[in-house]
Amino acid sequence: MCGIVGYIGDKKATPILINGLLSLEYRGYDSAGIAVIQNNEICTFKDKGRVANLQKAPELNNLTSNIGIAHTRWATHGKPSKENSHPHLDNSNNFAVVHNGIIENYNELKEFLSSKGYKFLSETDTEVIPNLIHYYYTNEIFEGDKFLQAVKVATNKLKGSYAIEVISKLHPDRIIVVRKDSPLVIGTKATENFIASDIPAILSYTKDFYLLDDYEYAVVYKDHVQFFDNTLSEHSKPVKNIEWDATSAEKNGYEDYMLKEIYEQPNAILETIGTRLKLGENCCFDDIGITKEYLQKINKIYIVACGTAMHAGLVGKVALEKLTHIPTEVDIASEFRYRDPILNEKTLCIFISQSGETADTIAALKLSKSKGAKTLAISNVVGSSITREADYSIYTHAGPEIAVASTKAYTSQIVLLIILAIYFAENLQSTNSSVLNNLKNDILDLPTKLETVLTETENIKDFAKKVYNETDMYFLGRGTDYAVSMEGSLKLKEISYIHSESYAAGELKHGPIALIENGVTVIGILTNPDLVEKTISNIQEVVSRGAKTLIITNQNITNNNFDFVIDIPETNNLISPILSIVPLQLLAYYISKYKGLDVDKPRNLAKSVTVE
Ligand code: M6R
Repeated sequence: MCGIVGYIGDKKATPILINGLLSLEYRGYDSAGIAVIQNNEICTFKDKGRVANLQKAPELNNLTSNIGIAHTRWATHGKPSKENSHPHLDNSNNFAVVHNGIIENYNELKEFLSSKGYKFLSETDTEVIPNLIHYYYTNEIFEGDKFLQAVKVATNKLKGSYAIEVISKLHPDRIIVVRKDSPLVIGTKATENFIASDIPAILSYTKDFYLLDDYEYAVVYKDHVQFFDNTLSEHSKPVKNIEWDATSAEKNGYEDYMLKEIYEQPNAILETIGTRLKLGENCCFDDIGITKEYLQKINKIYIVACGTAMHAGLVGKVALEKLTHIPTEVDIASEFRYRDPILNEKTLCIFISQSGETADTIAALKLSKSKGAKTLAISNVVGSSITREADYSIYTHAGPEIAVASTKAYTSQIVLLIILAIYFAENLQSTNSSVLNNLKNDILDLPTKLETVLTETENIKDFAKKVYNETDMYFLGRGTDYAVSMEGSLKLKEISYIHSESYAAGELKHGPIALIENGVTVIGILTNPDLVEKTISNIQEVVSRGAKTLIITNQNITNNNFDFVIDIPETNNLISPILSIVPLQLLAYYISKYKGLDVDKPRNLAKSVTVE
């Protein structure tokens, strides 16, 4: 949470910083600020509210500086206010810092600094950092680069997570950055360098990036970057060329990123399938290095993730168990990491994360490694933290996902998990090849079928118009349809703020049916031919209690008791979630629009949850 940007080069820093902040607002948007070095002084501008608010400050136009740092905040310590906004300065105004993450021991550090006479102007954890830097800069005798050493000694005192940028009026030719468990990238060009929490924020300026590791320091000058480890020994680092093109991180005429990303799903699926799956050939994941011998040893798979990525895992579990017969469990990362799971070298732990930076998922991965399990990361972001930590990594190719509500990442994660399950099954010879071939055919048909589902948009919009004022909705399904109903319910909550719950349809009569009363909206997902009759019976039970129903189905449903039916193309039940979720994404989207809400930046949420 929180987005940070930095610039040093031959152009005016302010417009570049503001642009970067605008594209990072999905990470937090309750206050924003920038600091530049102008006329040998650090000038800061910050305020509560969105970046657009900051942008209005007339003083920004007078800033000609070529070096600056900036921040958009998602409050953790202290309310959204001007005082709590970043950048934060030390008491002597020599150092300015922006920070993404949480300093867990800030109270202890604050006490230490207060005992040395430092005063604090904000309620944030961050404000200890510039003051610690100042303290060590002025009180410790350093040989060599005093600025870098003071930053290093100060950050070594921090417990928690951080991506930090520091500028100093005493060293106006550089920005020092360091990270631990929070993302940070450096975009590079001949005479300018850019820093950001993620790649899309600076993708319009360069495609060449350095990906910083935990506890790695970078001293960023206008025309070069130096890298140091935690002992301050210097090393070189390769530049990574990023293939995403900048326009893919823009709205391209869509009203919101979320709508654009929903519509990008046919292509995201096509790109994710890539060359991994071809008709008449075995699926190809040989590049990741999992050997057949190791596959044969696996006796347990865990899929660990958060939110939508965890919901994708629920579908992956069904595919893995069905095709490989290896018992597979899905865990919420924040639970898994604290429940002392039983893991050993025969356990494969799969971690799914669109951003690859989710704190709980990374911690669960580290725990699994320490217990001897093999770890496989699935991410959408090349070089993200989980991919660097894991034994094996594979990528979805959904392109940048900007809207806080995840859509195309979810469907891409499912398709990748299912192709992986087929690959495992082919190597283990655990499923008949004709079953696998049929499934492959169905996967290859997905992009076209997704286009068909998208033609239902107007019908879904009509339904959204009828129900957007409601206060509660329920989602029902069985099997993979239940997994989809969980995701549909999450999407609705996130962006429409309507209370909603999802239930396994068979569970309804064990309690939740007490909530059903006249006029309540119930959404049923019915795509599994073996279970459809049973789910229909459960939905009849709510119809007879006055519920208003929307049915998403690929079955021929003759019953006409239902108020609204959206037909989607038929496909193998393992992959039907990729089609059946789309109407639910659109439903959440249009309800949010009818309510006049900010679809892409829902309240209290951030795209990347880099704190616990
Ligand atoms: O980047 P990740 O996939 O690790 O993010 C996990 C969740 O925070 C994320 O899926 C969240 O639930 C989304 N806002 C859902 O739309």
